[in-house]
Amino acid sequence: MNNLNYNTLFVGKVDRHFESLPSTNSYAIELLSKSKPSEGTVISTYHQTAGRGQFGNKWLTHAGKNLTLSVIFYPKFLTPRAQFELNKTIALGVYDFVCAYISKKTAIKWPNDILVEDRKLAGILIQNGLSSGQFSHAVVGIGVNINQTSFNIAGRTPTSFALETHQQYDLEQLKMALYFFLEKRYLQLKFNQHALLQTDYLQGLYRYGVPHRFRKKDGTSFTGIIEGIAPNGQLIINHNGQSTFFGFKEVQFL
Ligand code: BTN
Repeated sequence: MNNLNYNTLFVGKVDRHFESLPSTNSYAIELLSKSKPSEGTVISTYHQTAGRGQFGNKWLTHAGKNLTLSVIFYPKFLTPRAQFELNKTIALGVYDFVCAYISKKTAIKWPNDILVEDRKLAGILIQNGLSSGQFSHAVVGIGVNINQTSFNIAGRTPTSFALETHQQYDLEQLKMALYFFLEKRYLQLKFNQHALLQTDYLQGLYRYGVPHRFRKKDGTSFTGIIEGIAPNGQLIINHNGQSTFFGFKEVQFL
């Protein structure tokens, strides 16, 4: 177990922990509609009953076993067109966190799932608030499977810290470590270290630079090589020498 002292400047300094909540993201959004929580405020629970995933999916977790939390950021220094920079940053923060505990091959599956040897360990749902064409806030929802050892999700292969390392973890300790890694990457974003974030994101990117099979929205499949990520977050896949840009939901990994 990794026992470093993970102090932060602002992430998690206010940590509103609840016995149970339907969704930490929904709670954070509601809170933002009536107040201005300080940057880095966290809403967390170990018993989320109606967790929300990407593309309208559900995020299901067993009570008391996993990290489910949302962090409030105000990335006003980003233009709305640069929203994907935040996705990259958060994916890297969670990736760094996982790598600090799990020594198996870990990767970021575009846009921001965290995999350990092809099995999904963590998911991220970022809900941005824009007002008058400006970034007003971001609710960064993170679910990391920690001590759960059985999953009943058809067609998918989730995993957890416990399944990968055969240990049980103290959720409070892990939460502090997660805050530390998120803050570190967020500060890099704030201080314009875009090139570093891009390089690190590509370095951690699942199937980057190697042939892989994909399925397009129209159902056809092809073998291509991921060759980059566009500034707007589109995945660039080279197929037979031609580069194609894909938005979210326009292409699927097979
Ligand atoms: C995904 O589909 O991969 C994203 C899952 C995000 C789940 C987290 S758990 C904490 C936060 N609150 C939610 O309702 N969802 C996110």
